[in-house]
Amino acid sequence: MDLFIKNIREVDCVSDALILPVTEGDSGAYKRLAASVANLIKKIFSKEFSGKQNEVLLIQSPFDIKPDRLLLVGLGKKKDISPEKIRQAGGKAAAYLRDMGMKRIALSTQVLSSLKLSPVDFIEGSLLGLYTFKKYRTENDNKSIDSITMLEKPSRELREKLAWIKTVASSVYFVRDLVNTPSNDMTPTHLAKTALSLRGKGLTVKVLEKRDAQKLGMGAYLSVAKGSNEPPKFIVLEYRGSKGAPYVLIGKSITFDSGGISLKPAEGMEKMKYDMAGGAAVLGIIKAVSASRLPIHLIGILPATENLPGGSASKPGDVVRSLIKKTVEIINTDAEGRLIIADAIGYAGRFKPLAIIDIATLTGACSIAFGNEAIAMMGNDRGFIKKIKKAADNTYERVWEMPLFEEYKTYLKSDIADIKNSAGRNGSLMTSAYFLYEFAGQVPWVHLDIAGTAWAEKDMPYIPKGASGIGTRLILNLIKELK
Ligand code: BES
Ligand code: MN
Ligand code: ZN
Repeated sequence: MDLFIKNIREVDCVSDALILPVTEGDSGAYKRLAASVANLIKKIFSKEFSGKQNEVLLIQSPFDIKPDRLLLVGLGKKKDISPEKIRQAGGKAAAYLRDMGMKRIALSTQVLSSLKLSPVDFIEGSLLGLYTFKKYRTENDNKSIDSITMLEKPSRELREKLAWIKTVASSVYFVRDLVNTPSNDMTPTHLAKTALSLRGKGLTVKVLEKRDAQKLGMGAYLSVAKGSNEPPKFIVLEYRGSKGAPYVLIGKSITFDSGGISLKPAEGMEKMKYDMAGGAAVLGIIKAVSASRLPIHLIGILPATENLPGGSASKPGDVVRSLIKKTVEIINTDAEGRLIIADAIGYAGRFKPLAIIDIATLTGACSIAFGNEAIAMMGNDRGFIKKIKKAADNTYERVWEMPLFEEYKTYLKSDIADIKNSAGRNGSLMTSAYFLYEFAGQVPWVHLDIAGTAWAEKDMPYIPKGASGIGTRLILNLIKELK
C-alpha cells in the first residue's frame, strides 16, 4: 500500500473516498470545502450522524467534486480529544472503507490541524487497523486499500514522521504475524530462522543450541524444554548503533504453553500459541531499530522452547540449577516463563547492561487484574520506570505499576532449594515478578507482563481480533526518547 502527501484541494482529489474527520456536533466543519458539501453535511447532521467517537458514515459525493464518496468519521467531543482518539478514528475509518471495497482513499487534514492534532496519528491508526492475517485461508476476498493520500503541504518533517510510523506499523505487522502463526509452524526453530533473517548491517544474531545452553548451565531454561521433542533455541541478537554498554530486551518465547505436567485445562488452550508474544515484540523492535539505524546499542534475547508434558518433562518437586547457580524448586511446571527468563537475565548479566527490560505473557493474574487494558509493570529502578511510563502514555500501550513488597520474598521460600517457582495464586502477579527480581540483582531492570494485552479478544479500532503486537510501539517510543 502506498502513502502519498498531496498539496491539492479536497474537491480536486480523485479518489474512491475522502475521509472527513468531525468532532461531535460540529456540522459546520467543512463549510469552506464546497457549498454542495456543506449542504450535504448540514442535512445529515440532524439525522444519521453526529460525530460521536469512531462513528462512521459513507455517503455519495455531490457531483461537483472529484472524490466519489465522503466518509464522515467521528472524533468525539472536542474537549476529550487526544492523539489516541485520532489513531482510533484512523483505524476505524480505514478498515471500514476497506470492507466497503474502496481502494484509493484520501484524508482531509483541515479539522485535525485546526485542533493542533497530527494527521500522522490518524494515518498510524489506519495502517495498524488495516492489518489482516490470511496466511491460512485458501479463499481471498481481495479487499484491500491500495493507497492513502494525505492532503497536506509536503515538508521534510512530515515525510520523516510518516516514514517512522510506516516502519513502526510494518514491525507491528511482523510481530502480529509471528504471534498469530500456530505453534506447529511457529516452533523455536522457526523463531530462530526468523531472527537470523533480520541479520544485516550492525545486526548480528547468534542461536545457542541445547548443548550450548547445557555447557553454560542454563538449568532453569532447559528444565522447561525437557518435555518437548522440538529443540530449544536460545536466540541472541545484537544491534550496535552506538558505542558503550547496551540495553537488553528479553522476550518470553514459549511457542506453546500446555502447562507441562501441571497441564492446563483444554478450554482456551489453543490460545497458548501467543505465549511467545514477548519474544516476537523484541524481534519487531530490533527490526525497526536496525531499519531506522537508531543510535543505540541493543541486545535482544529470546529463550525459545515449547512447554509440553512429554515422557522426560520436568515434574513438580524437581530442583534445577540456574545459570547464576541459584537453585529452583519447580512447584508448578506451568510457571515456566519465569524459569526461562531467569536464565535469560543471568545471561544478560555478561553484557554489563545499562538496563534490562523483560516483556512476557507471564501470568493469568495479569488479565484478572487489568482485563485487556494495561501492561503490569514492576522493576527496581525508579528512573527507568518513569521513562517507560512516559512512552506508555505516548503510545497508549498503557502500563500500570504494581509493587514488589519485600514480604513477597517469603512467599517464594522453598523447603529444599534457594527459591521456588510458584507461590500459588495469592499475589501471583507480583510474586512472579519478585522471582525475576531475585535474578536481576543490582542491574536496573523492569518487567512488563503483557498477558492481558497481547491478544485482542475482539476487534478494536486499530487492533483487529488476535495478536495485538503490544510492547512494540511502547519500547520503540522509549528507545527514540532515550538520551
Ligand atoms: N503463559 C501463562 C500465563 C498466561 C495465561 C498468559 C493466560 C496469557 C493468558 C503462564 O506460563 C502461566 O501458565 N502462568 C500461571 C502461573 C501459575 C501456575 C503460578 C498462571 O498465571 O496461571
Ligand atoms: Mn505456563
Ligand atoms: Zn506461559
